[in-house]
Parts: sequence; C-alpha cells; structure tokens
Amino acid sequence: MKICIIGSGYVGLVSGACFSDLGNTVICVDINKLIVEKLNKGIIPIYEPGLQELVERNLKKKRLLFSTDISSSIKKSDIIFICVGTPTKNNKADLKYVYNVVKSIKSNLNKYKIIVTKSTVPVTTGDKIENILNSKKNKNKFDVVSNPEFLREGEAIRDFQYPDRVVIGTNSKKANKIMKNLYLPLIKKGSRYVNTSRRSSELIKYASNAFLATKITFINEIANLCEKSHIDVQDVATGMGLDDRIGSRFLRAGPAYGGSCFPKDTRALVSTGQIFKTNLSVVKSVINSNKKRNKLLLDRIKLILKNKIKNKNISFLGVTFKSGTDDMRESPSLKMIPFLVKKGAFVSYYEPTGQKKQFKSKNIIFYENIKDACQNADLIIIHTEWNEFKQLNFKKITKKRNFKIFDMRNLYSTSEMKKNKINYFSIGR
Ligand SMILES: NC(=O)c1ccc[n+]([C@@H]2O[C@H](COP(=O)([O-])OP(=O)(O)OC[C@H]3O[C@@H](n4cnc5c(N)ncnc54)[C@H](O)[C@@H]3O)[C@@H](O)[C@H]2O)c1
Repeated sequence: MKICIIGSGYVGLVSGACFSDLGNTVICVDINKLIVEKLNKGIIPIYEPGLQELVERNLKKKRLLFSTDISSSIKKSDIIFICVGTPTKNNKADLKYVYNVVKSIKSNLNKYKIIVTKSTVPVTTGDKIENILNSKKNKNKFDVVSNPEFLREGEAIRDFQYPDRVVIGTNSKKANKIMKNLYLPLIKKGSRYVNTSRRSSELIKYASNAFLATKITFINEIANLCEKSHIDVQDVATGMGLDDRIGSRFLRAGPAYGGSCFPKDTRALVSTGQIFKTNLSVVKSVINSNKKRNKLLLDRIKLILKNKIKNKNISFLGVTFKSGTDDMRESPSLKMIPFLVKKGAFVSYYEPTGQKKQFKSKNIIFYENIKDACQNADLIIIHTEWNEFKQLNFKKITKKRNFKIFDMRNLYSTSEMKKNKINYFSIGR
C-alpha cells in the first residue's frame, strides 16, 4: 500500500517505520523542517530503542521517505494516517493540529483514500472530519476511520509489531477490508483485530488510558496507606496482581503518572463526559489524586530532610516521566526540581537520554554520569526506573557520609539497605 503519515513524532515515526518494514511505501510528513532534514540523513530526533536501525533499513530500501510537502504526499497515497499531537487546552483535547491536516487533505483528495485518525481524538472527531471533507466533489472519495495507537514509548517498536489488539473503527466494508489487509501480517502473528463503530474506537483509546491511569493512582493511594500501617505495598501488589481479573501490570507504586498521554487523555475524557452530560466521577478523582501526589512526595522529601531543604545537595537519577524515553512531557520532575530549588536546594541530575537543557536555573546542573551527579549528594532521588540505576554501590558514588536515598521506584530491597547502614526511604514500604 502507499501510505502517508502526517506528523512524524513518537507515534508517526514509529508507525511509518514499522509500516514500511512490512513492505509498504511510506511517506512521513512533518511541518517541522528540521525534523525532516534530520530524518532524511538517518538521524532520529527522538530516543526510541531500535528505531534507528528500522529507519536506516527502510530508507536504504527506499520504502520510507520523509517530506515537508503535505500536498504531494497526500496525492500519492491510498491511506493517510493523522498522527499529529492532541495536547490539552482548557482541559479539552486541542484539535487544531488535526483540523489543519484535514484542511490539507480536503484540497488534495484526487482519488479514493482512507483517512485514519491515529492521533488520540475525542468521540465524534471522526464525524466532524467527515463533515469537513464532505462535498459534491469529494463524494465516494474517502472514508474516515479511527485506528487508535496503543504503543508505549520505550517499547514502541515491539508494541507496534506485536500489538495485543488492532482496533479499527469504521462502518465502511471497503475501508475495513483495506485496513484489515494492511494489518494482516500482525494479525497472522496473533494480534486480535477488533472492528467497531468509529465512536466506539475513539472511546476505546480514552477508556483504556483512563483505566491504566486509575490503576496507577489506585496503587499509589494504597502505598500511602501501607506507609502508615507498616505494610509493604509490593506484597499487596503481588497478592492482588495474581488475580487474573486484576492483573499485575500497572500496579507499581511510584511518583504521579506523567507523560504525553495519561494526564491529557484523562482530562479530555472528563470533558467529553461533560459534553454528553455524564459525570465521570472516577476519572475526575484520579486526576485530582494524581495532582496531589507531587505535593505529597515533596512533603515526604521535606520530612526526609527534616525540613532543612536550604543548601542541601539533591541529586536526581532520571528526569523523564519513565524509563526508555526522552519524553519530558508532564514528568513529575518538572514540578519537583524547581520547587526544591526555590526552597534553596542545589539540584544535580543525571539523565541517560542526555536532557541537558530541561531546567533554567544555575542551581540545577546536568551531569554526564551517575557518579558526578551524586558525589556531593545529601539526598539521592531515584526518579526513573532505568536499568542502570538498579545495581549501584551508593557508598562508592557519594562522598558524603550521611547521605540519604529516596527511591521513588522501589528498585532496592529495604533489608539490604538496612544491612548496609544506608538511610533509605522508598514508596509504600
Ligand atoms: N507518544 C505516545 O506514547 C502516544 C501513544 C499513543 C497515542 N499517542 C497519540 O498520538 C498523537 C501524536 O502523539 P506524539 O507523541 O507522536 O506527538 P509528537 O508531538 O511527538 O508528534 C507530533 C508531530 O506532528 C507534527 N505536526 C503538527 N502539525 C502538523 C501538520 N499540520 N503537518 C505535519 N506535521 C505536523 C509536529 O511537528 C510533531 O513532529 C497524540 O494524539 C497522542 O495522544 C501518543
């Protein structure tokens, strides 16, 4: 198939590279010239394991192309995937990037095409896109299909190539047949193919993200209770997770959930509820609880430092919202680090993906390695669960004798830390 991907970020670039690897001809378009220039040279603008090799391989085979020319890319293609961002504006999904793309599609519909929303868009967006594209001239020239993306940053290629399910929202038999054929190599490997109405498909994405955010928030609140009642939250999570109806994933207590999806998608879902006069009280309380979590963990830091934050050296290990990605969007560190500096602390941090310029203060310094970042630490905060943080000899990397550790990811055993006489604090234990 000839595919045009519009928006070459985390989702568009991975989808484009993976579709081309399945033998399709793919043009990835972006309005950001710099991104396209880099991609044409085989330079990947984001951190995503395995993406470099995949892009290089398909660039060489000339099945994967990058362009800023949206009009000609649309005209040449049979399927157009909209993969632009849908950030939050006034607690709703801001669809301006999506509608800009739709305008370009409208003026370049030279033959029948399937327009696919892979961006996460609220229920009824597909209907609206269809209305915009509808005209006498465009009759029978298009179908609008919803095909939400479920990949996780850091695992994006595997998730794309071996998805649990492929959801296609359309009532058009023609579009459904073409889409099923496109995904056939993945279906043959065992992925479930789910054909629903377009609105159901749009809601499946939001409901899934809201449910996962709920699971994280739930275990975070249980962790709060564990801390007060001398219970290990990990025992509780293991005991709960072994129940098939619950499942063990997303039951790891830690910082507030962040990233480019859960915060904005939970807010957008509540706003969809308001449009349809439905009170999504569970999702609202998840958003509320998650918002409070940053403050709760900052209060914990104050307690660990006995209320003396001023002039303390605090080292952060990892600043992205999770491991395996360079994505800083809505990362808890963006709230925590400036707060601590405002209270007089000096923050040093090490981030495996090399985010040097995330914070604008002379009291926040990036270091190229763990040892340099931690050598003067009064408090080390393990913020992200990168593998390289899992087996550290803290006594060797820190000069201070009475340093403390706040492990927000529960990477270490409390008994080992006790045995080594390290002042160690973690979550829900
Ligand atoms: N990041 C994830 O893990 C993930 C997972 C599943 C779904 N999603 C959803 O996928 C969508 C995209 O997310 P992302 O993280 O890839 O966003 P992103 O910000 O990484 O990428 C979006 C890209 O679109 C480009 N763009 C904007 N307007 C354009 C236009 N008119 N023409 C061409 N390019 C344009 C931008 O320059 C940018 O490079 C969002 O709706 C998001 O919710 C994201």
